Amino acid sequence: MAEKFYLTTPLYYVNDVPHIGHAYTTVAADVLARYKRMMGFDVHFLTGTDEHGQKIWHAAQEKKEDTQKFVDRMAEGFKAAWKTLGISHDDFIRTSEKRHETVVQKVFHKLLQQGDVYKGEYEGWYCVPCESFWSEGELKEDVDGRLLCPDCGRETEVLKEESYFFKLSKYEKDLLKHIEANPDFIQPISRKNEIVQFIKQGLKDLSITRTAFPWGIGVPDDPKHVVYVWFDALINYISALDYLNDGKLFKKFWPADVHLMGKEIVRFHAVTWPCMLMALGVKLPKKVFGHGWWTVEGKKMSKSKGNVVDPLALSSEFGVDAVRYFLMREVAFGDDGNFSMQSFIKRYNADLANDLGNLLNRTLNMIEKYFKGQIPERPDKLDGAKDQLVGAAEGGASGLVDQNMNNLAFSKALDNIWEKLVKPANKYIETNAPWKLAKESKAKELESVMYVLSLVLKETAVLLSPFMPETAGKMWQQLGLQGPLSQKTEVAGVKVAKGEPLFPRIQK
Ligand code: ME8
Ligand code: MG
Repeated sequence: MAEKFYLTTPLYYVNDVPHIGHAYTTVAADVLARYKRMMGFDVHFLTGTDEHGQKIWHAAQEKKEDTQKFVDRMAEGFKAAWKTLGISHDDFIRTSEKRHETVVQKVFHKLLQQGDVYKGEYEGWYCVPCESFWSEGELKEDVDGRLLCPDCGRETEVLKEESYFFKLSKYEKDLLKHIEANPDFIQPISRKNEIVQFIKQGLKDLSITRTAFPWGIGVPDDPKHVVYVWFDALINYISALDYLNDGKLFKKFWPADVHLMGKEIVRFHAVTWPCMLMALGVKLPKKVFGHGWWTVEGKKMSKSKGNVVDPLALSSEFGVDAVRYFLMREVAFGDDGNFSMQSFIKRYNADLANDLGNLLNRTLNMIEKYFKGQIPERPDKLDGAKDQLVGAAEGGASGLVDQNMNNLAFSKALDNIWEKLVKPANKYIETNAPWKLAKESKAKELESVMYVLSLVLKETAVLLSPFMPETAGKMWQQLGLQGPLSQKTEVAGVKVAKGEPLFPRIQK
């Protein structure tokens, strides 16, 4: 039986349309999902939308739109964006769906009954954009004495309301133990250290209901309260697996192999969520990975600055795969990164137009010219142990890629493909100068060179397919290969079908 792999993205707030930051996590998850499927795993890839809370309620009010209609419309925008970006999720959950609401209410009820949830009063600060509670000591103060959210720097509001609380404090010790016993639980390591420090300062019980606005999942038997949006949303990772009905999906896929997210919400996933699961007696996810943040031309992305990068506009101008490639290649997963048009175009021209596009184009041209478009037979003397490029194409590169993919080191995996296959193959053309071999009628040698290049291109297509599915498909087609992309496919004797250049140079 195939091994399972369950991965998730955050559920994005639908107060706004998806931008390059949302696309980043979702593309990364998609790359990983596609890679795992290719490696034979039974993959379940979940994404979706977070549709409750004060922020979204406000956004709908501002637009004078019915809240449900507003979230319906916005959720469609996310679905459409993911379709355009080639995202291959297996499920898309919306927190306003009945299947989710039922589970949240039952979880709430269960925790209330067992004494892990109790009624009290919350008095403290709240950041609406982050939908998070803060105590005074955690806030930043500006020059005018305003108390700001330590995360986003915006002004917080004072809350004093009746509230139900979740006994987070009760699970503090067990959580620390779990983190210590499972060094891979929180990644990268810098995030883990931050979380451990945070827990060691002491966990306070968490307010998990609000009464100030009506938009959310109702508390069973206490209709004045709606469930706090984070307590609600985190449950999606199991409600989508039909957790309470003893669902087949839950049995098969839980615990999650990895929850992917940006670093700003690791605390919710590595503290709140595990404590909720411990209270429920459910296993903890295997890994919580907090990647870095993108800035745009050096600045924090924001609507008010007007510098929000639209992944769809970028894709329609330069192609979806160029966007996917750039996001995965430009920064190491885990580090912060900067988006600039200049760096985008630079990578596009250097890596895609020059290195990859030219390699395919030149090779196919020569196969057409010297061999009437038919890839030559494999020479007897070809030996991966002796010939570095052949060795790379027959397992060397894929071994490195596999290690890096398993560490979520997407940029390194792409680097492996370029450094072990694409670039050496271009160099191989220069060194072997097929045009000279042709002139000197060295048929055997010419055959060998063309065969090796075809081998490299096939392997490149396969390894690139999780990152750039459309491009890999085109490469496969132009190589004349049939059937699903697989390393086992034989190139010898195949008739190539040269097509349009994959990545026409951007002149700017
Ligand atoms: O936090 N750089 O939703 P959200 C990199 N609904 N990634 C970014 C980014 C940037 N500049 N901006 C956004 C929420 N992201 C909650 C989650 S989960 C149960 C609930 C990505 O719409 C990144 O993944 O604010 C980040 O964690 C997420 O979008 C936040 O999306
Ligand atoms: Mg956010």
